[in-house]
Amino acid sequence: NLQSAEQIVLFGAAGDLSRRKLFAALYHLESEHLLQSNLKIIGVARNEYDEKEFQQFVADNLATFIGNEITAEVVQRFTARFTYLNLDFSDQAGYKRLKDALTSKTNTLYYLATPPAIYGMICEGLNAHGLANKYARVVMEKPIGHDLQSSQVINDQVNRFFDESQIYRIDHYLGKETVLNLLSLRFANSLFSTNWDHNCIDHVQITVAESVGIEGRWGFYDETGQMRDMVQNHLLQILSLLAMEPPTDLSAESIRDEKLKVIKALRPITKANIHEKAVRGQYGKGYLNGKEVPGYLEEEGANKESTTETFVAIKAEIDNWRWAGVPFYLRTGKRMPCKHSEVVIYFKHQPHNIFSHSYAQLPANKLTIRLQPDEGVELTVMNKIPGISNEIQIKETALDLSFSEINENTRVIDAYERLLLTAIDGNQSLFIRRDEVEQAWKWVDGIMEAWNATNELPKSYAAGSWGPVASIALIARDDRNWDE
Ligand code: BG6
Repeated sequence: NLQSAEQIVLFGAAGDLSRRKLFAALYHLESEHLLQSNLKIIGVARNEYDEKEFQQFVADNLATFIGNEITAEVVQRFTARFTYLNLDFSDQAGYKRLKDALTSKTNTLYYLATPPAIYGMICEGLNAHGLANKYARVVMEKPIGHDLQSSQVINDQVNRFFDESQIYRIDHYLGKETVLNLLSLRFANSLFSTNWDHNCIDHVQITVAESVGIEGRWGFYDETGQMRDMVQNHLLQILSLLAMEPPTDLSAESIRDEKLKVIKALRPITKANIHEKAVRGQYGKGYLNGKEVPGYLEEEGANKESTTETFVAIKAEIDNWRWAGVPFYLRTGKRMPCKHSEVVIYFKHQPHNIFSHSYAQLPANKLTIRLQPDEGVELTVMNKIPGISNEIQIKETALDLSFSEINENTRVIDAYERLLLTAIDGNQSLFIRRDEVEQAWKWVDGIMEAWNATNELPKSYAAGSWGPVASIALIARDDRNWDE
């Protein structure tokens, strides 16, 4: 096990991820005194900055992305940790300068906030100068490839120089408080752990909806699409945490072994059943909060012929003992009515109804786990309506736990803060192992191939709606509805 890192080398230090997320996350760790006093951060990018200018760049971005929560004294302490190195990633001489700037034989975290296509090149440069040594660990951002084959190429390039125990593949959903809370809900509550299977659960819904559109990143998004951008990683990670067997402990390997088994057990979706099992959509123009917004093909920089999907709905089935006959319906899309992510567990109906005067069919209990925003957990239960009457009248009521109410005054920790801290500490449990990434690609590739074989265009949906009509039909065919 590696000890805490004392140096961070941030490749892509002038890029979007660093500016929006990484500086802010590290700043918050600083302000909570969670960074060791001797930790140094070297920003690496192609831009021309001297040290002072780069420190100012960091401070400016903190002001932009955190705002008036920042305090001058912490900003000063934090930016003083930064030095800067101008480096063209393909220039080998640059890595020599990096080596000279680093303290040798010191635990060093290399954060690759660059396009994945150059991960291999960077690792090679590090290796050529003896930096891919036992003191190193590498953090890699998604997307790792755009299919199984390309992800294998990237993983091979990195694995040539680094052992799996040194590689930290990020899925930032695993750093989210509410996603981690799935572990405590499931494995710290006997109420749920004993009811968590096909005997008690009818089906599960996972929704990750965003109201944002493409936000100026059309080029990247159009090559990627919602399936690769969201389903291959975030939705499958949520699904595997929900469906996995109890891990022996919370160690990285125990958790990752169990998640992998779930992804392996996903039933393939093929050309023969794609129409019943999956729907892809693309938003047209519509209205959000009363304002007209353009369709995907009308966004700035759009290729008008694009058939990239911005919405996906899938009926996923897990072929194992626990989940036989329990569908997991997944849906995710851009330009939906609001940002809203939740998991809903629908329990089975009571076998017999003695309250038929109140309900022709008793509603089933429902556990809603609100991932974001308004984080919380809600359990619907049937309750007696107070009052005197000949018959007991009942109604559906909610036990609603809002995390902001029970954890008053607690700042919501950004996923990147937690992920950076655990990577600095050398704990891999919140990071994805190579076999998980590749297994997820395998399943996703099958669906993409099946779609492509149909030669059909994605179904259109109006911006500001919950997706194409076909996605409602997908679940309605099973006599069920999406939770709205
Ligand atoms: C990223 C995707 O991984 O997750 C984006 O690339 C998406 O397209 C984002 O908007 C959503 O993350 P969050 O944390 O805002 O739910």
